Amino acid sequence: MSETAQRWTPVHGEPYRPVPYRPARMSHEESLARAAVLRERMQDRRTVRQFAPDPVPEQAVRDAIACASTAPSGAHQQPWTFVLVRDQEIRRRIREAAEHEEQISYDGRLGEEWLAALRPLGTDEVKPHLTDAPALIVVFQQRYWLGDDGTKHKHYYVDESVGIAVGMLLSALHLSGLAALIHTPSPMRFLSRVLGRPENEKAFAVIPVGYPSEDCRVPDLVRKSLDQVMVEV
Ligand SMILES: Cc1cc2nc3c(=O)[nH]c(=O)nc-3n(C[C@H](O)[C@H](O)[C@H](O)COP(=O)(O)O)c2cc1C
Repeated sequence: MSETAQRWTPVHGEPYRPVPYRPARMSHEESLARAAVLRERMQDRRTVRQFAPDPVPEQAVRDAIACASTAPSGAHQQPWTFVLVRDQEIRRRIREAAEHEEQISYDGRLGEEWLAALRPLGTDEVKPHLTDAPALIVVFQQRYWLGDDGTKHKHYYVDESVGIAVGMLLSALHLSGLAALIHTPSPMRFLSRVLGRPENEKAFAVIPVGYPSEDCRVPDLVRKSLDQVMVEV
């Protein structure tokens, strides 16, 4: 399969030209069986903050990014860029800049309430995952796009679209046997500088990807039950 698709979207302002969509219908039994397996597999997903240095199968990471990029997006504008970083020196620079910001955050910028919310997670300003994990996926939002004549065009529902794509990315990585963390150092402007991203892109998250280290530990969290999160009417 070619990684470079044809045109990425219907041309801005073109009329509606639908095509048929008839995916094969699954039996109820098969839907139930698949849903149960998926629910169980997703229960195992945890945010990992301690990574082994072992390499990951690169194509699995590319495939996960391709899955993320199937996400729905406002007006199908697909306002995302995924920068895959394996270079050790670039990861070192990202860690250095992130730890600089996080130091200020944990020293008080976050405020007592936020720090109290983070305390049970055991996080602090030291971010070894940024250099220990063999790969980082840095996700950028494209706040607008530029026409051929340089005119700026608005993107719609950028936060929502990129959030959905990142959720799909985390699911795809997990279901491919890879561990990840969504890390949001704040502010994140340094990522544009270190990675040389254009003006219309704004960093959304850094996602280290790899395998948990042998001594990896995670906070003892309990997820809300279905009846706590779902209301039927
Ligand atoms: C938008 C978002 C931002 C996050 N930012 C960070 C972060 O900067 N550092 C971190 O260690 N974890 C971060 N997390 C991970 C959460 O702490 C984690 O998902 C939560 O504690 C639940 O744990 P689980 O993913 O293992 O279920 C973030 C999660 C989300 C959804």
